Amino acid sequence: MNVVSTKVTPTLQGGDLLSLLDYDANQIRHILDVAANLKAKQKQGKPMKLLEGKTLGMIFSKPSTRTRISFQTSMYQLGGNAIFLKEDDMQLSRGESVADTAKVLSGYLDGIMIRTYSQKMIEELAEHATIPVINGLTDMYHPCQALADLLTIEEQKGKLAGNKIAYIGDGNNVTHSLLIAAATMGMDVAIATPPGCEPDAAVLHQVKKITAKSGTGITVCHDPDVAVQDADVIYTDVWASMGEEDKDINIFSRFQVNRGLMQKAKPDAIFMHCLPAHRELEVTADVIDSKQSVVFQQAENRLHAQKAVLVLLLGDQPQELLYS
Ligand code: CP
Ligand code: NVA
Repeated sequence: MNVVSTKVTPTLQGGDLLSLLDYDANQIRHILDVAANLKAKQKQGKPMKLLEGKTLGMIFSKPSTRTRISFQTSMYQLGGNAIFLKEDDMQLSRGESVADTAKVLSGYLDGIMIRTYSQKMIEELAEHATIPVINGLTDMYHPCQALADLLTIEEQKGKLAGNKIAYIGDGNNVTHSLLIAAATMGMDVAIATPPGCEPDAAVLHQVKKITAKSGTGITVCHDPDVAVQDADVIYTDVWASMGEEDKDINIFSRFQVNRGLMQKAKPDAIFMHCLPAHRELEVTADVIDSKQSVVFQQAENRLHAQKAVLVLLLGDQPQELLYS
């Protein structure tokens, strides 16, 4: 059984998950505790039907394997229902406004999960919707991935605060959410990217504010060897994200996570990747398929972390039920 935070349990009911910058450490702790409990219950064959009668709409304008299937399975395991909505098949693609779409969907659904390009668009959707909106990836953020990543690190290392995470590669949506999540939970963060591929300056500014407050370390550099020094977790993602198909990936050749780089981190360091991965580009097969790799545990944890998010945002059950 997980220990519930000693602070007052925060209520997230009816809120959105657009970026983890909107969540503090106590709220993230609450999500992770509920996720761990729901995971344990599922493994014991005691699924918790906490969202009976609730329906989640899932809007996708980019491809997905993990996000789509884990959200749909989450709703099924929680006793609710999910509807897959391809943006191309909605009137949104023919010019219906985001505001009108938000108001219409609020009359049918209990929550919206959306994967699209523009963070501004999902903020507009949330502004006009009267139901929770969950970011399933934009060009800017991937908060559900970062929550699953934290759950995985905690399972692997027994704690979050005090660990050092090194991200190697492109400063993208996954990087942004990971840096915010890790810094908020008291982890030291280091990132090495090619010049010009650094994380967004405004996000870095926010992450630096978090680390200054918590006294944790942050390194932003262009040298993978420096970033991985004393690291407990090495993380990478694709060099070209969805929508960047024309990008020149040759600039990333020094930023491959391979055995040589893993050996420069702590001996018990774990390897993480949000997937999908490209073997022999951002990571070599002998790393991603090694014992140090936790990528499939990470992928499974999308399910458990998202079940917690769904229950906390869409549910109306008493808090104690989430831990019973
Ligand atoms: N990691 C992740 O979001 O995977 P999908 O693109 O398959 O959803
Ligand atoms: N950065 C990647 C993540 C995929 C889950 C992308 O946006 O394509």
